[in-house]
Amino acid sequence: MPNNTNSKPQVKIILGISGGIAAYKCPDLVRRLKERNFDVRVVLTPSAEEFVTPMALQAVSGNPVHRETFDEQMEAAMGHIELAKWADYILIAPATANTVAKLVHGQADNLLTTIILASQADLVVAPAMNQQMWANQNTQRNIAELMSKGVEVLGPASGEQACGDVGQGRMIEPLDVAQRMQAISEQEKVLKGKKVVITAGPTVEAIDPVRYISNHSSGKMGYAIARAAQKAGANVSLVSGPVNIAAPKDVKLVSVVSAAEMFAAVQQESTDTDIFIGCAAVADYTPVDVAKQKIKKNEETMSLNLKRNPDILAWVAKQAKRPYVVGFAAESQKLKGFATRKLEKKKLDLICANDISCENLGFNSDDNQLLLLDKNGNENLLPIAAKEILAGQIIQHIANKISEY
Ligand code: PMT
Repeated sequence: MPNNTNSKPQVKIILGISGGIAAYKCPDLVRRLKERNFDVRVVLTPSAEEFVTPMALQAVSGNPVHRETFDEQMEAAMGHIELAKWADYILIAPATANTVAKLVHGQADNLLTTIILASQADLVVAPAMNQQMWANQNTQRNIAELMSKGVEVLGPASGEQACGDVGQGRMIEPLDVAQRMQAISEQEKVLKGKKVVITAGPTVEAIDPVRYISNHSSGKMGYAIARAAQKAGANVSLVSGPVNIAAPKDVKLVSVVSAAEMFAAVQQESTDTDIFIGCAAVADYTPVDVAKQKIKKNEETMSLNLKRNPDILAWVAKQAKRPYVVGFAAESQKLKGFATRKLEKKKLDLICANDISCENLGFNSDDNQLLLLDKNGNENLLPIAAKEILAGQIIQHIANKISEY
């Protein structure tokens, strides 16, 4: 909801625009940010000027637009180092593949990249590029590297592109960027001084040296929660099964493979924990014996002898000095009923239920929808949103609950 009438001090943001076709959306983005009480200063890279005019941006931002590193007049008014110190946030939208690569390597060959090197402001990027450029492994590696340094990455979205291709690479819409910036800037240090242990991703149960049992968990939900908890001031340990996501900044990552390893890591990490969040999709069963050699396919059918894995979440909840315990439930039917049963059986404080029968939600998706059910019978629906947004909402919800705990 736009909010330009409250008495809170304005949040200072540099909007850095790099040279992509989505730059034409930036006057609208400036307007949306200003509606949300941001004080916006725009910095253009030289190629961005091919797609959007400084005049339009100056008119909507109400401030002069910064373009040159060594501009006498600008330096006299607000020099690039002063600008770098002024900002609370630097948002790059659109962020091209080229600019993303420069950020990774600390290159400072234009005003925007120079400011970023000289600034301690939190960095947020909204990538936009051709779908093949986005899929390129160099770009993916660069994005992973930025995320591991704590840079927020918004999008990109999928759809038809200006070049005629269809795929992932469109800048997310200005309204979404502005809403995400508002959520980021309003997140308070609500878990300051708290210790949080989170499980994420799948577990992988070996059958033989090449085969395994696992599931489609990507780790996106759990990693987003770890980032949100860290940003909320918590001391976070993330016990993660194998995923393709870089470790979040300032989070202790404990990498595991099997459920047994996850259990051992949780036992070690969870001493004196204030909050435990089980977001991992832990395999319920594991082979009784792991074959030492690759199993030969001699028969038409084969049977695997499986045994139950330890229930990590239930173990944490059983401890005499237990933390606030949050579980997840991924259900394809009877969402509330099955989730409530898990809440009660595992003696949880809170369960976050996701309906995995909905397309593009739950496992290996960017978005989710969660029904939060607590042990006192309260329920809260968190409507469909990016996992990063939901993670912030979950952390806020937990912070409210433990203040009454
Ligand atoms: O990783 P993503 O692709 O982002 O997807 C996120 C998710 C769908 C995996 C996540 O949101 C989610 O729902 N995780 C829980 C999956 C699930 O169905 O868990 P479960 O019903 O098997 O277990 C319920 C709870 O007990 C979970 O908190 C689970 O972590 C925990 N559990 C289960 C079994 C076990 N042996 N030990 C456990 O701790």
